[in-house]
Amino acid sequence: MPKSSDILERVLVLEMVRVTEAAAVSAAKLIGRGDEKAADAAAVEAMRAALNGLDVCGTVVIGEGERDEAPMLFIGEKVGHGCAGESPEIDIALDPLEGTTITAKAGANALAVLAIAEKGNLLNAPDVYMDKLAVGPGYSDGIINLNKSVTENVTAVANEKGVEPADIIVCVLDRPRHEKIISELREIGCGIMLIPDGDVAGVIATTDEETTVDMYMGSGGAPEGVLAAAALRCVGGQFKGRLTFRNDDERKRAHKWGIEDLDKIYDLKELAKGDVIFAATGVTDGSLLEGVKRLRSGVMTTESVVMRASSGTVRWVKSEHRA
Ligand code: FBP
Repeated sequence: MPKSSDILERVLVLEMVRVTEAAAVSAAKLIGRGDEKAADAAAVEAMRAALNGLDVCGTVVIGEGERDEAPMLFIGEKVGHGCAGESPEIDIALDPLEGTTITAKAGANALAVLAIAEKGNLLNAPDVYMDKLAVGPGYSDGIINLNKSVTENVTAVANEKGVEPADIIVCVLDRPRHEKIISELREIGCGIMLIPDGDVAGVIATTDEETTVDMYMGSGGAPEGVLAAAALRCVGGQFKGRLTFRNDDERKRAHKWGIEDLDKIYDLKELAKGDVIFAATGVTDGSLLEGVKRLRSGVMTTESVVMRASSGTVRWVKSEHRA
């Protein structure tokens, strides 16, 4: 077996981009067609085929098939053609199409997303919701706290940024369950970027000054939380996540995946430890990436980002696909 410190060295970073590109190009054919399931299925199939072409022994530890009843790349599925030999063993968190509804409606910020880490380094997040709180890089450790109020968190960030709390811009998923968060933010006078879907891009937006988003707040999918945490491990920023359960079945599922403390607040490194690699390709145009474009010549263009926690390297990849 290769030493664990060598494991990710042997996985070509560019291979990750090939995988997210394949999913994005397939899903893009369904942009604006009003069919979430078909778009998701196209992305899943393409991502599975691309993953199976890699010389790794991969295990999907995070997916989101269960909740959507989609044709999932299921948790526990083995991918890659290296499991019989000496190939590196890696854990994979994926969302072949993050933003199925966005894609169906040709909205902004749909992505094909993937994160890998050495075995055991990604939280085996069950397919439940997670309360999320995130802030970009440059703030003192522990500045955000899920046990504190919206006002306390916004004020802490504003104080360090040297602005008024009302100057802080917070990204929130537009959902009825976020009514209380939104009304508290309105009372403070914050700018609220309400997004219809796609909280992986929403969390990552806090790390990019061009988006003007300072913080992310609210609940969304737990798998998306781990994927966003993997990205923040690479580019900086802080993230807190707490799983939330709607019923006993979800609690049982959490226990099944080895989660004992159901109220635990997870830090970045508890969600995505060690040397993590995160890759994403834009499906539709968004704050992070351009979407897939079909040129008049028939050539498809994609934009991707791939980042690595150990080096902090961020690579932007623009590709042309002629097949
Ligand atoms: P899908 O790609 O599975 O549709 O997820 C989109 C998304 O908006 C995620 O970004 C987010 O974490 C989750 O759905 C929120 O769940 P819900 O739509 O149930 O509020």
